[in-house]
Amino acid sequence: MNIILTADRIRERLAEIAAQIEADYAGQEVLCVGVLKGCFVVLADLIRQLELPLEVDFIAVSSYGHGQAPGEFKLLSDVRSDIAGRNVLLVEDICDTGHSLRAIMDILASRAPRSLRVCVLLDKPSRRQVCIAPDYVGFEIPDVFVVGYGLDCAERYRNLPYVAALAAPPG
Ligand code: IMP
Ligand code: MG
Repeated sequence: MNIILTADRIRERLAEIAAQIEADYAGQEVLCVGVLKGCFVVLADLIRQLELPLEVDFIAVSSYGHGQAPGEFKLLSDVRSDIAGRNVLLVEDICDTGHSLRAIMDILASRAPRSLRVCVLLDKPSRRQVCIAPDYVGFEIPDVFVVGYGLDCAERYRNLPYVAALAAPPG
């Protein structure tokens, strides 16, 4: 495992992003929608740095079968909230090809939220296949498969407190 982002570095960066979010929403209420499963660590750490009034909801999608090969996008579970007229902030672990976030944004945008923004811990712009530019990006990373801090490989490694590149991709 090659650590590329330590727990300390992630904490510091999330504090900066939280300050930016606070400034941008200026005390307005926000509905944070985490994209399961990968969001759960970054969402938990981010919202504890936010003081504006907020609610939390989740949407579950699947874009990877097992391991690292991209699969078909599926909406596994929708948000429970009515998002019409609300400030929705999608929180996701990583934007890679962009297909998942594009599909989720299209679904949510069709329900007339007041605003719709995206926060990702990691961004791999070199892998992008569809047009999407997250509003808040923790770190841009090169085209390496990473795990930890919520991100998995075949459901493993989500518990690592740091982000690491897998030394050798599993067979
Ligand atoms: P996209 O639709 O290609 O942008 O892929 C988004 C999803 O793929 C993310 O939410 C992750 O679950 C997964 N993913 C993409 N890159 C990585 C990676 O390097 N490590 C772990 N999961 C990844
Ligand atoms: Mg995943």
